[in-house]
Amino acid sequence: MRNNACEAFDRLLKKYRATAPLAAAEGLLPYRGEGRRWLSSPFDGNSWWTGGFWPGIMWQLYAASKDAFFLEEARRAEALLTDELRRFTKLNHDVGFMYLLSCGADYRLTGREQSRVDCLHAASLLMGRFNPAGFIRAWNEPERVGYAIIDCMMNLSLLFWASAQTGDPRFAGVARIHADTALREFLRPDGSVSHIVEFDPNTGTRLREHAGQGYGLGTAWSRGQAWGLYGFALAHANTGEARYLEAARRVADFFIAHIRPDGLTDCDFLQPPEPARLDNIAGACGACGLLELHRLTGEARYLEAAGALVDGLLDKCCDLSPNTCGALTHCTASYHDDAAGVHCNIVYGDYFLVEALNRMNGTDIGLWSAE
Ligand code: GLY
Repeated sequence: MRNNACEAFDRLLKKYRATAPLAAAEGLLPYRGEGRRWLSSPFDGNSWWTGGFWPGIMWQLYAASKDAFFLEEARRAEALLTDELRRFTKLNHDVGFMYLLSCGADYRLTGREQSRVDCLHAASLLMGRFNPAGFIRAWNEPERVGYAIIDCMMNLSLLFWASAQTGDPRFAGVARIHADTALREFLRPDGSVSHIVEFDPNTGTRLREHAGQGYGLGTAWSRGQAWGLYGFALAHANTGEARYLEAARRVADFFIAHIRPDGLTDCDFLQPPEPARLDNIAGACGACGLLELHRLTGEARYLEAAGALVDGLLDKCCDLSPNTCGALTHCTASYHDDAAGVHCNIVYGDYFLVEALNRMNGTDIGLWSAE
């Protein structure tokens, strides 16, 4: 492995120590960095699904540095997010991303009781999205009542955590039902995964697949592949079930076969050669999934593939200057829709890069773990 994960992490820590106060001064929850500015999400205010990644970065940096600034900034963001629990109407299945990385991290690292309670509140919201026909509903629009999406595999960690906290198996039981539906209905024979599957909300019958944030129907949106890879690996870590590990291995094989020679990640693994469109968030998240698979199996090929991804990011698409906001460049929210950002910095790319470096340095803080 060529990258120096320790040095890169140290530079990221200094960069965030220098620039995060700019977000605090403006009272905003960053969605992306641009020059000397942090910018909020273009949609849904602090209810947008990405709100947990900023405090997640702060907690990762706090755990490594014990610098109280990062704790205070994480708590400032956590308060903004817990306000959204009461607003409620814009929240969706991504409460896993939002609250595990904020309240969940706070409770894990400091034992703060209110954070535990807020995280259980979020888990109850996610439970409330379960359709007994066999899936967790993704979004809120009435015409999407039967939609489930592969991203939800990551949110299941909140339910596994809630069962471990409360001793009540219902949370983990729902997570298993959803994971089994994803295994059956999203995982394709070639190891790729669908982004969106629509079910009959009354019977659970699979109706159709929809094109989502990738190139088109039936293609392989790279971030969706990362969500599937990492999500199934975490489902195995949190249950011990062999079938989830087998699924994670299959998605990993597909992902690894599509890593570009330069270590960067196309937005869709089946996109046409032109226009070239990268999504480095997928590379950073995929690296975390591969590092989790390496932890679970001990197999070197997963560590090597994660190293190739992180090398590509650090060598070509990472701004470690303390004078600019945001590290990872060439992040793309969606292949066809530029409104949420294309080839720019986006906060969850930085989150997964920081997590990957912490994992490589042996200092992962286990934010997706039920225990
Ligand atoms: N969870 C939505 C996305 O990955 O863009």
